[in-house]
Amino acid sequence: MKLAVLYDSKTGNTAQAAAWIAEGMNEVENVEAMAFSIEDADVEFVKASRGVVIGSPSYAALMTPDLHAWLQTNGNKLKLSGKLGGAFATAQFTHGGGDLVIQSILTFEMVKGMLCYSGGASCGMPVIHLGPVAINNNVEKHNSLDIYKGYFNIYGKRFAEKARELFS
Ligand SMILES: Cc1cc2nc3c(=O)[nH]c(=O)nc-3n(C[C@H](O)[C@H](O)[C@H](O)COP(=O)(O)O)c2cc1C
Repeated sequence: MKLAVLYDSKTGNTAQAAAWIAEGMNEVENVEAMAFSIEDADVEFVKASRGVVIGSPSYAALMTPDLHAWLQTNGNKLKLSGKLGGAFATAQFTHGGGDLVIQSILTFEMVKGMLCYSGGASCGMPVIHLGPVAINNNVEKHNSLDIYKGYFNIYGKRFAEKARELFS
């Protein structure tokens, strides 16, 4: 079963987070997960995927304008309806709007008829409410992108397990 992670990233943080999600997905048997920048997404792979997770940096507490425009232009080509959907974000500040970015992506996914899933509180610890958010190394001394690797791995694994339960 194919699963795709799609992201926009200008300075590498969201690309890294996407790779961690795909890594967690690939821990699940019979799953082939790939992460793609929107700049070179394999549309055929995404179309063939049973689940798609979409991620963005926080830009003024929203997804990037590039991701929004790309989704508006390419959303129909990706045949998203009926696929499992998830979302993630990276940001510079703990209070920099990561959850709002995720919510805006989940809203887009629901408009396209996707089945949105995060695991929420149903999978025990760590509880990941709407989707994982990583804060990068730029400003806050107590934060560093690498701290969040485990959250992204486990989110990817949970997402893949749910996709397998629904679609295998
Ligand atoms: C135009 C712009 C707006 C941004 N707005 C926010 C913001 O509202 N909140 C925040 O925490 N970080 C903000 N950032 C920082 C990015 O979200 C953060 O550095 C992110 O991890 C970058 O991801 P990337 O390395 O994948 O491009 C902004 C950065 C840019 C360039």
